[in-house]
Amino acid sequence: MDSPPQISVLRTAWCWWRYAAAYEGSLRATRRLIGVLWEFVRDSTPDRLRARFGDADYDWDFRVNTTSGAVRWRDRLLGMFHSEYQPTQPAAFHEMIDALGQMPGADQSPLNFRDYTFIDLGSGKGRTLLMASDYPFRRIIGVELLPALHEIAQSNLRQYKNESQKCFAIEALCRDAAAFAFPEDPLVLYLFNPFPESGVRQVIANLKQSLRAHPRPVYILYHNPLLEYVLTESPGLKRIGGTHQYSLFTNQI
Ligand SMILES: C[S@@+](CC[C@H](N)C(=O)[O-])C[C@H]1O[C@@H](n2cnc3c(N)ncnc32)[C@H](O)[C@@H]1O
Repeated sequence: MDSPPQISVLRTAWCWWRYAAAYEGSLRATRRLIGVLWEFVRDSTPDRLRARFGDADYDWDFRVNTTSGAVRWRDRLLGMFHSEYQPTQPAAFHEMIDALGQMPGADQSPLNFRDYTFIDLGSGKGRTLLMASDYPFRRIIGVELLPALHEIAQSNLRQYKNESQKCFAIEALCRDAAAFAFPEDPLVLYLFNPFPESGVRQVIANLKQSLRAHPRPVYILYHNPLLEYVLTESPGLKRIGGTHQYSLFTNQI
């Protein structure tokens, strides 16, 4: 079994600063670092912490722990340097997957989830893995960097009970998604702002390499697509749907 990576706050902050300093100089990188730390302090006030529990309805319904309200300070601080944990809202998730289900598959009939592996890169406490299991995917994989969130995801997977669950082949992995080797199945790739631009570029480069080696259909659901241009500029991927909340890309052009 893999042992989860050990992640130190100081080392993470140092790597973040070095990367920023290489692009924008030490002074601006230091100013931005102070900004990140200040934002963390502001985000730690009792009011802000309480507000994070506002998304706990899903947890009440299914007796799981996926809210961003119960994340330890250390993981919140690490999140400021990678990408802060925030779970996808159920209504938004089902809207995205239902839209995906309307897409024509190879024979022009609606896309058959049974052929596809669903992958969430940056899966946090695993809420999307649970929600995706209500659809008949071939299998479901979540990849999360922070060990504490990954462990909670594993416990949620054990805990989750829902009569409408259709997929039971679910795996949560603790590793850097930028180094994740994609399985050779047709894929539905889910991204909810897991990385900065360099990470998104790396993931898309990995995906393309995997597609060259094993051609197969891929659909990418990009929720809150702040770095959408990285995918739009990427030859071989086409935006085929979406709203202001998400974009849907595919290689089936
Ligand atoms: C905005 S949250 C999304 C959580 C989940 N996908 C969802 O939609 O409910 C982004 C997650 O990406 C994780 N993350 C950040 N960098 C990562 C990396 N390099 N590899 C894997 N996970 C990462 C963060 O720890 C965080 O849990």
